[in-house]
Amino acid sequence: ADIKLWGGRFAHGPAEALERLSASVHFDWRLAPYDIAGSRAHARVLARAGLLDEQELAAMLEGLDRLAADVADGSFTGTVADEDVHTALERGLLERLGPELGGKLRAGRSRNDQVATLFRMYLRDHARILGGLLADLQETLIALADAHPGVAMPGRTHFQHAQPVLFAHHVLAHVQALSRDAERLRQWDARAAVSPYGSGALAGSSLGLDPEAVAAELGFEGGSSANSIDGTSARDFAAEFAFVTAMIGVDLSRIAEEVIVWNTKEFSFVTLHDAFSTGSSIMPQKKNPDIAELARGKSGRLIGNLTGLLATLKALPLAYNRDLQEDKEPVFDSCDQLEVLLPAFTGMLATLTVNGERMAALAPAGFSLATDIAEWLVKRGVPFRDAHEVAGECVKVCEAEGIELDQLTDEQFAKISPRLTPEVREVLTVEGALAARSARGGTAPVAVAAQLAEAKGDLDRQ
Ligand code: ARG
Repeated sequence: ADIKLWGGRFAHGPAEALERLSASVHFDWRLAPYDIAGSRAHARVLARAGLLDEQELAAMLEGLDRLAADVADGSFTGTVADEDVHTALERGLLERLGPELGGKLRAGRSRNDQVATLFRMYLRDHARILGGLLADLQETLIALADAHPGVAMPGRTHFQHAQPVLFAHHVLAHVQALSRDAERLRQWDARAAVSPYGSGALAGSSLGLDPEAVAAELGFEGGSSANSIDGTSARDFAAEFAFVTAMIGVDLSRIAEEVIVWNTKEFSFVTLHDAFSTGSSIMPQKKNPDIAELARGKSGRLIGNLTGLLATLKALPLAYNRDLQEDKEPVFDSCDQLEVLLPAFTGMLATLTVNGERMAALAPAGFSLATDIAEWLVKRGVPFRDAHEVAGECVKVCEAEGIELDQLTDEQFAKISPRLTPEVREVLTVEGALAARSARGGTAPVAVAAQLAEAKGDLDRQ
């Protein structure tokens, strides 16, 4: 069972402590289907170069099919003694085809170009899975905005009441961020679509193999690596993938934080569905937003995966170094975390109840219409500097009297400034303030309806 890929020049087998340190099979086994796909493509270019005859190729492909089936149903797995997935699968092939034929497949390839290729294939598949999960979330947020068209809420800066906005406008802001993340995944994929297969250990192969044919068979639209040293040692594709997943995590965490706050007794803007909340083991009354909290927490982990990988890559000389074996776990983990998080997160948002009345009631609170007084004055020729002062004075009077802006009397307005005629009340309603911001990107119902339509169209094209 103890098949090593070297051995020729070694008088001793590896120490057990080395084997335990060196083993990656427990985490790189997930590359097995990709390794076998790579082996099929490699067998074909070996045959085309005259290194396998037709019968050998047919037997090789048939052996690889059997191995693939045994991997798929779990009857063949790697062990610590195999070290990694590539070695384990070579053992599997030797066991099925015998050493004569089984031993021919390794010609002209190295685990260095194999692993660099398979890692890309795996991540490209998962970029597509993540893109689908992200689209589900975008769709859910768009539906949430669509279902509450006229609901106003307090828009915030510095987490203080700033200006009223439509709830739909706020939700669609998150959709914008997520659609850029989805775009990042697609752009990443186009860059990652280059196959290192054929780079060998670092210098390429002397056997007349065609890396472009392998690249085409494995679905790499960008062809094969232009430089075999780069092909085997570049991991910026993995770091960039880790960045995009970390960015998704950060964008989720910003939604999560709002859900947590909105779900408090003090805010009471939303109520989470029982199926997407958890209880407390001691406090019977509790209903906790654990999904949002896990999203917030996991974003830290995703950032850690990115920074850990960058630290591994920093100052690493060319070409392959064993340090690079540390590249896979963090990025696999980022896939795994988002693939369990996104469905739960989307479910939480799809089922929460929006307390529109509560939001709308608070929309004008905190003097959030003060800017509208200033802009009303500007439209009447007052320089904004002065208008800002006058509106600030209105707030001061209100604060002293414990009233809201629309409760100022005509006399109080006139006393603050003769320019403040009773018509100023036209803009002292939330509806008026919203409707006035009708340019592209603004919070007026017409502008938000246009944004919503655009977001739907973007998602359909995504
Ligand atoms: N398991 C290794 C990795 O993940 C690939 C094997 C390359 N090993 C070597 N000694 N050249 O990077």
